[in-house]
Amino acid sequence: MNNHQDNQERSSLHGQWSSRLTFILAVTGSAIGLGNIWKFPYIAGENGGGAFVLIYLVCIFIIGFPIMVSEIMLGRRGRRNPITSMKILGQEEQGNEAWKYVGLIGLMAGFIILSYYSVIAGWTLHYFKLSIFGELSNLDNETAQSIFGQLTASASTQLIYHTGFMIITIAIIAKGIKNGLERAVKLMMPGLLLILIILLLYSIFQGDFMAGVNFLLVPDFSKVTSQSILAAMGQAFFTLSLGMGCIVMYGAYLPKNESIVGTTSAIIFCDTMIALLAGMVIFPIVFQFGLEPTDGPGLIFLTLPLAFNEITGGYLFSGLFFILLGFAAITSALSLLEPSVAWMIENKNYSRNKSAFIIGILIWLLGFLSIFSFNALSELTFWKGTLFDNFDYIASNIMLPLSGLLFTIFASWVMKRKHSMDELSDIPANVYRLWRFSARYIAPIGVILVFFNAIGII
Ligand code: TRP
Repeated sequence: MNNHQDNQERSSLHGQWSSRLTFILAVTGSAIGLGNIWKFPYIAGENGGGAFVLIYLVCIFIIGFPIMVSEIMLGRRGRRNPITSMKILGQEEQGNEAWKYVGLIGLMAGFIILSYYSVIAGWTLHYFKLSIFGELSNLDNETAQSIFGQLTASASTQLIYHTGFMIITIAIIAKGIKNGLERAVKLMMPGLLLILIILLLYSIFQGDFMAGVNFLLVPDFSKVTSQSILAAMGQAFFTLSLGMGCIVMYGAYLPKNESIVGTTSAIIFCDTMIALLAGMVIFPIVFQFGLEPTDGPGLIFLTLPLAFNEITGGYLFSGLFFILLGFAAITSALSLLEPSVAWMIENKNYSRNKSAFIIGILIWLLGFLSIFSFNALSELTFWKGTLFDNFDYIASNIMLPLSGLLFTIFASWVMKRKHSMDELSDIPANVYRLWRFSARYIAPIGVILVFFNAIGII
């Protein structure tokens, strides 16, 4: 990393990315994670498949794209954590500090998301252990279910992995994320992609590929409800790490001369490909083994071991897959924790170590509730289901779209045209106009319509 000053008045307090590649890797590392491989298939499965996927893709392109550009832009102008950046920019553009609350909603969403994200990441670590100890061999449908059932029934096993995962995340954040992140992402992405491709070949030749692809890609609009549209939008925000402020945060470390639209395109492309690939792998296996698409958060843990089990030497791939998924989860978790930690460092003047520790512990404690949602408190259901279900619903489907909406409104309505143009100076005028139009009208109206629709107003 270098500390070179750019031609802007403000520079980041934590230095800048050493290159454009580091920024792309950091954002891709944030975007690609459990959201693509664990969450996308199970949410798509619960919401009927094809039509959900189509709506999800529409949300990615017409809502996610302009919002990601807006968030990077806000970060690069604000050069601080999301709360402070919004405060500074609000003051600069409008004399109004209240915009900081947008950053606050985002940080709170990140807090909630990381608390359960870490629990699920713990599941992947447990499956890594099972793979390398040969405990996933000779599986059939029932044993796969019972192995997963044992894990979710055991609060203590989940607690151990959740703790381990949080310790790793806190330790990396405490050291500063830029060292190591680049290497981790460069190693993990190609590895994960390779195994997914091997699994895809399995699904094509051994799985019930046609049934899977039909389910995933052929839309059946009779299955679309206002809630599934909201879920598709929430998933678009979740998978692109939008609305939480981590993209704003990473944008704060981006040198002035790098292209925001160019990097956004690359990141969205990779993220979407990985999610679709995961779906094309999972569903043929679901149908082949007589599982249900609606099997919920356990879906990848029920399906993939069955497929690996049938591939020669599959336990090797299986171990590798789950550990790489664990890595992918770490690079995402870093982006969930970093903004709150940066906020604490900048505002409370605590050291990085102390900030990472305090916030990390609070998130770790909150995670207990998600763990208990699968056992001791599994009967405690209200509104959207268990505590875990409610955390995910509130954070992904409400908080992320809400603050994403406000970020984009700020970037396109409040921020002076001259300022946004200056940030996007590398793109042709018509692409700029397209961004501004989408950020001003399409994305906000889209989000608001989906919200209104979900609460039954329209
Ligand atoms: N996008 C990540 C994934 O798909 C998770 C994630 C990281 C995230 N940072 C985020 C989700 C911020 C919402 C907001 O796994």
